[in-house]
Amino acid sequence: MKIFKDKQNLQKEIFKNKGISFVPTMGGLHKGHISLIKKSKKSKFKTLVSIFVNPKQFSKKGDFKSYPRNIKKDIKQLKKLKISYLYIPTFKDIYGFKTIEHVYLDKFSKKLCGKFRKGHFEGVLNVVNRFIEIIKPKYIFLGKKDYQQLYLIKKHIEKRKIKCKVIECKTIRENNGIACSSRNLNLNKNQIKVASNIYHYLYSLKKKIKKNYSFFYINKIKKDLKNLGASKIDYLENYNVKSFKKIKRQSKKFNLFIAYYIKNIRLIDNI
Ligand code: PAF
Repeated sequence: MKIFKDKQNLQKEIFKNKGISFVPTMGGLHKGHISLIKKSKKSKFKTLVSIFVNPKQFSKKGDFKSYPRNIKKDIKQLKKLKISYLYIPTFKDIYGFKTIEHVYLDKFSKKLCGKFRKGHFEGVLNVVNRFIEIIKPKYIFLGKKDYQQLYLIKKHIEKRKIKCKVIECKTIRENNGIACSSRNLNLNKNQIKVASNIYHYLYSLKKKIKKNYSFFYINKIKKDLKNLGASKIDYLENYNVKSFKKIKRQSKKFNLFIAYYIKNIRLIDNI
């Protein structure tokens, strides 16, 4: 595994290849990342993983500071996985140049997390657009846990006619049902139990709603979630995952999208 900290040396090396399969991360690697990397390794191109905690996608300074970081452990894991390239850029390497493309921000960015995390998706698309211009990957691997992010990155790539295919990868869960996320590293044992109970609650709620839409009774659901230990709920909404239209009556093709807090730890999921 070759490690690069600047784009000049990185490009000199990777442009020797016919293409690159790219897995962007902010580190704190977990089973979800490992699954993206394994999928990428099965592609016909060499795998490049990036680790960059992008300050521009955090609306609060405290959230950026407390984001789990574990670079030594991450490097060890990546070596074991035998990826070809690891890119750990500095802020200047990413933001010290003018991009060719402008970010395209689909209107769906205003919904769900967009309502609660001001500037978050602008920050995500800014950094992804920059990574794409530096690496020119043929494939980019993204997880469905961050479904809104995945959708918006796809829209940007489509709209700007960028020759890069987004490979959507399923959400990986712990045995207790919790969706793998770097933020889980900040949860203590009790909080893990709360998150697991909330997952199981939502899983059976979805089944009920599929049979009878009147179970989507938001005030009661929010009360139940609070009783299970959620400190605050940013949103709980149901959307058709293809059209991203809100479901207003009985349907089988929807996911429940949630963002909630346990103490000061914000978790998102879609089930
Ligand atoms: O999903 C993430 O970890 C980040 O949002 C990403 C895509 C690496 C951009 O910083």
